[in-house]
Amino acid sequence: MYCRNRVGYVIFPAMIAVVALAIAACASRHPTADRVPSHAMEDALSYKAPFGDTRTAPPEIVTAGKALYEGKGNCILCHGISGKGDGPAAHMQDPHLPTDFTNCSVQNVRKDGELFWVIKHGSPGTGMKSLIPGMLSEEEGWKLVAYVRTFCTAHS
Ligand code: HEC
Repeated sequence: MYCRNRVGYVIFPAMIAVVALAIAACASRHPTADRVPSHAMEDALSYKAPFGDTRTAPPEIVTAGKALYEGKGNCILCHGISGKGDGPAAHMQDPHLPTDFTNCSVQNVRKDGELFWVIKHGSPGTGMKSLIPGMLSEEEGWKLVAYVRTFCTAHS
């Protein structure tokens, strides 16, 4: 028996606690939990689209965003053509699955700046990488946010 002495009684539960914590840290977070780290939130909330609220973006901005989403941006690979987070590479992102943009609860809690911040800086510790300025310009990033907003169709 390893646990016969007193040290064993302490070390064994401690090891279980460490393993449990490691599993919890790797598990996916609730969809509506903040994705922007708290230290960057103030910065994220200061980002505003040049055309105003992304939910009421002009149709030509949304059309341009759709072209980027399905083309150059490769967003469909993970987030899927219908925005449900079910693209061909979605399962590879486990346990941090691509956001389901049709989930209006997520859309409702996110400010424009938060969505833009994640496209720009990525979501730390997940497959969502920083795409601006490497792959996209800031202008393109905002067009993408405007298109991403259209996946939530059940606005209250
Ligand atoms: C390699 C897969 C992959 C690609 C490609 C990808 N994403 Fe993501 N994206 C993810 C994952 C995984 C998450 C979830 C991260 C998390 O849970 O924190 C995510 C999260 C996001 C979020 C944050 C949503 C929220 O909950 O706040 C936005 C916005 C986003 N992606 C936009 C895009 C856009 C726009 C593109 C294309 C330019 C794109 N993504 C391409 C994997 C990807």
